[in-house]
Amino acid sequence: MFVNLLLLTVIVTVEAQRVPGLQKTDSCLCKINSSIWTFPAVQFVEVTKEVQTCEENLNEFEEKLRNTDAELPSMGANLQNITARLKAFNYLHTSGLYNALHLRQLNQELEEIHQIVNEAHMENPNNETHNLLSELNKAKNDVQRMYKDDFFNLETMKKRLQDLNNRAQTCKTIPNDFRSTCHQRIMTRISSPRVNKLNSISKSYISGAWGRDALLTNNLHWEHCLVSGHKHGNTIRVYNSHEDFMASKNYKDEPIASSYSDKNAVQGSGTILYDNTVYYQCYETAEICSFNITSQSTKRVKLDGAGIDNKFPFCYYSCRDWTDIDLEADQDAVWVIYATEENHGNIVVSRLDPLELNITHTWKTHLFKRSVTSTFMVCGVLYATRFVSTYQEEVFYAFDTTTGQEINTLSLPFEKVSAGIANLNYNPVDRRLYMYNDGYLLAYNTFN
Ligand SMILES: *[C@@H]1O[C@H](CO)[C@@H](O)[C@H](O)[C@H]1NC(C)=O
Ligand SMILES: *[C@@H]1O[C@H](CO)[C@@H](O)[C@H](O)[C@H]1NC(C)=O
Ligand SMILES: *[C@@H]1O[C@H](CO)[C@@H](O)[C@H](O)[C@H]1NC(C)=O
Ligand SMILES: *[C@@H]1O[C@H](CO)[C@@H](O)[C@H](O)[C@H]1NC(C)=O
Ligand SMILES: *[C@@H]1O[C@H](CO)[C@@H](O)[C@H](O)[C@H]1NC(C)=O
Repeated sequence: MFVNLLLLTVIVTVEAQRVPGLQKTDSCLCKINSSIWTFPAVQFVEVTKEVQTCEENLNEFEEKLRNTDAELPSMGANLQNITARLKAFNYLHTSGLYNALHLRQLNQELEEIHQIVNEAHMENPNNETHNLLSELNKAKNDVQRMYKDDFFNLETMKKRLQDLNNRAQTCKTIPNDFRSTCHQRIMTRISSPRVNKLNSISKSYISGAWGRDALLTNNLHWEHCLVSGHKHGNTIRVYNSHEDFMASKNYKDEPIASSYSDKNAVQGSGTILYDNTVYYQCYETAEICSFNITSQSTKRVKLDGAGIDNKFPFCYYSCRDWTDIDLEADQDAVWVIYATEENHGNIVVSRLDPLELNITHTWKTHLFKRSVTSTFMVCGVLYATRFVSTYQEEVFYAFDTTTGQEINTLSLPFEKVSAGIANLNYNPVDRRLYMYNDGYLLAYNTFN
């Protein structure tokens, strides 16, 4: 089995001239010695100059792959592509990574978090807000000390801030009934496919999304296939019952935009239907659109820093194009899953108010988006899956937005009929998981 994770980290010391790496369980592994983070700030620039990429080792790795006769479709090209893409956004060798860690920015972030927690505390003082405030004050003192001593561990401080921020986001007013409706949280099992059907248009439409309205209980089923290089779409096919959906009859094709190159057209396969409203990535921009089928009106909101156009797609052994932005829904909210350079390509989760279409909360995870095949949300918990084989997928990770906790120990396998996943979404009404699997439409029951 091929593990497609490409782990890229770097060893740097002030003296080192190159970055050694090694092949380990089919990955190119270059290791960073974390003690490097403890050094005076003045040496920063010097160090960044010394950093070299893993490129040499990648080439070696690629050579080895070519020489094994394993069936790894386009692996070589893909590796080269990843290298090229990493280079394109200067993932390793610009000082960008370090800029983000700059002290002044730390201070600014601290202030922002402080403000969020302060507001939450004024509104509803409780132990968590109280504890957060005292931790924040402690962190502020630490940053002041860093300024004075010019000696610090930025990596640790950055992680601490991220954790504080995630907890602060959770403190912000999430509806009071949020927890109560969703107790019994983490999923424990996924059934075999209960629905397995080819999409109603053509087997050649390998990308898209499908499901059932995530709020309404009227059994509204929907199907959305991407055209134009599996990239764009402008209609959504809706059925009033499961029977009609299964028979591919009595459907209505609702126009979302006038053409698939209209500014309101759909880009990518992250689409969801909630309250008879389609939520999706707007054509060629880092914006979320909502199209209310009832009122025939479109709204849009900007998603700050979100990578688009295959900058941070979901990947398995090869990347799935146009999966930069993934919309999900649960009973109270619409969620959007994406990645930013600021968070080093790791997954960022934002919660949207479905009616106002504005972003109310944002959490940053430590999960590299390219190491994941797909994601879905259940009760404020983000789940991520990984490719096991053509016919098997596995949920391996969860991030709980109500606690800010990451769970790396999950192993919930489930079957599929083809290798590639264009979309996975959870429906809170029937508690089913819906998958667009290379043109096949699959649904599963879930258990917790
Ligand atoms: C990391 O670097 C420090 C200082 O250069 C060294 O003492 C330590 O042994 C290194 N650790 C590893 C795991 O290589
Ligand atoms: C490499 O990535 C580019 C986009 O950056 C894409 O157009 C191209 O098809 C990719 N090549 C392979 C072999 O995946
Ligand atoms: C909050 O703190 C008080 C006093 O320290 C304690 O009695 C109470 O149980 C705490 N509440 C929660 C929900 O932890
Ligand atoms: C869609 O429009 C209808 C009619 O104007 C309205 O009642 C409903 O709340 C809207 N839904 C959303 C999600 O905006
Ligand atoms: C969302 O929009 C509403 C109405 O415009 C506004 O009252 C609210 O403060 C906004 N929330 C955020 C987080 O921007």
